[in-house]
Amino acid sequence: MSLEVVILAAGQGSRMRSSLPKVLHLLAGKPLLAHVIDSAQQLSPTAIHVVVGHGAEQVRSVFGEQALFWIEQRQQLGTGHAVLQALPAIGEGSTVLVLYGDVPLVSPGILQALVAAAAGAPALLTATLEDPAGYGRVLRDADGAFMAVVEHKDATDSERGVREVNTGILAAPASLLHRYLPSVDNSNQQQEYYLPDVLSLAVADGVPVQTASAANPLEVMGVNDQLQLSRLERELQRQRAEALMQAGVRLADPARIDIRGSLQCGQDVFIDVNCVFAGEVVLGDGVSIGPNCVLQDATVGEGSEICAMSHLESASVGSACNVGPYARLRPGTRLGDQARVGNFVETKKANIGVGSKVNHLSYVGDCEMGAGVNVGAGTITCNYDGVNKHITRIGDGAFVGSNATLVAPVEIGADGFVAAGSTITRPVATGELAVGRGKQRNIQGWTRPGKTDKD
Ligand code: UD1
Ligand code: CA
Repeated sequence: MSLEVVILAAGQGSRMRSSLPKVLHLLAGKPLLAHVIDSAQQLSPTAIHVVVGHGAEQVRSVFGEQALFWIEQRQQLGTGHAVLQALPAIGEGSTVLVLYGDVPLVSPGILQALVAAAAGAPALLTATLEDPAGYGRVLRDADGAFMAVVEHKDATDSERGVREVNTGILAAPASLLHRYLPSVDNSNQQQEYYLPDVLSLAVADGVPVQTASAANPLEVMGVNDQLQLSRLERELQRQRAEALMQAGVRLADPARIDIRGSLQCGQDVFIDVNCVFAGEVVLGDGVSIGPNCVLQDATVGEGSEICAMSHLESASVGSACNVGPYARLRPGTRLGDQARVGNFVETKKANIGVGSKVNHLSYVGDCEMGAGVNVGAGTITCNYDGVNKHITRIGDGAFVGSNATLVAPVEIGADGFVAAGSTITRPVATGELAVGRGKQRNIQGWTRPGKTDKD
């Protein structure tokens, strides 16, 4: 049977106290709604419908590329009303899975179980919470069969004592939603059309409602304010840190690592405190990452060491390299094996060959550098003439003295030697020494200016 997912994401999220629509707030570097869409996609549904309202345009633009069906709910009249907006787009014969854009960590496994349970009747995902305040409570009859969900605001004191809650997530045959949803009314405290009311209408009609229970409450925790968002973030990061440690990674402190994407590690990797990993990061065997590093879409080869305070973005580092402390590898940087990039060095679109060294205070951009090159402190590739970018080529074994400026386009041949303090504007051939600096003059018998009286 075909599966259609409806994700509710129209609410304002006023308790976030933010101008950003709630479902665009980031959890582990990814919008809340993206987490939900990703889980939904793992079920390979026929279609994913997203009901948007507040900030609809903004939400849509973030996901513009994806194959999603957008449905606008102009007025947020309740969760039942939201699903009703999506219903015309859903075939009678399919199974519908309703997810919430603000419940990001629900696992595909439990959703699969829920969908399987909803073959002929609705199935609701519930959870038993220590503190159920605010949630809709699940009411059962004497035999334990599902009867209804009562919202916290509508519940009596004894109903509020129930700790089994509605997670909001449910699956149902589309035909049942088509049959019962239009009859849901808004005669309740909040004057909203409540989605769970379709379940009590079904029960009243003799259709039993199945329930599945989420064992891990984190999976069904909603984000309504910044506090809940931060709790979810820490919990998710804790899980990721634990998974890394289970896989053999040594973390200086599992509470001080943030993975906002995917981090793949070889054997005997060590990660010191306060590192942030974003996008796709791959660390080879024996890699060591110093404290306070940021790595985004980066690959680090076997046995390399990234020292404290380094920032790598869209960069790849070979094996047995040494980077930092305080290095910045910008997009397009590629370090060959055993290369070294030291403190206060910035690189961009730079191929730095095997064993080459740029150890101190340099800018190397748009540069093709061979193997065994030594670049002295304070060297700058002048890659930009104000209009265009140009390339600097440095051959194998070349030596660039300190404080050289290499005005691109320019080429230093293999084993070329650039004297310290030179400004190089013309090519240097293989094995040549280039000296491009003002001649030193020494003036003898010179006296320093004395202090004038006026001062
Ligand atoms: C809802 C449930 C409650 C459950 C809780 C679990 C109802 C009536 N209540 O309450 O039983 O325990 O979730 O977290 O279903 N939304 C729309 N359009 C609307 C209203 C809401 O798209 O008109 C979306 C929101 O953006 C949100 C989701 O539906 O993603 C839930 O809405 P929210 O107002 O947060 O419901 P709760 O009060 O949390
Ligand atoms: Ca909510």
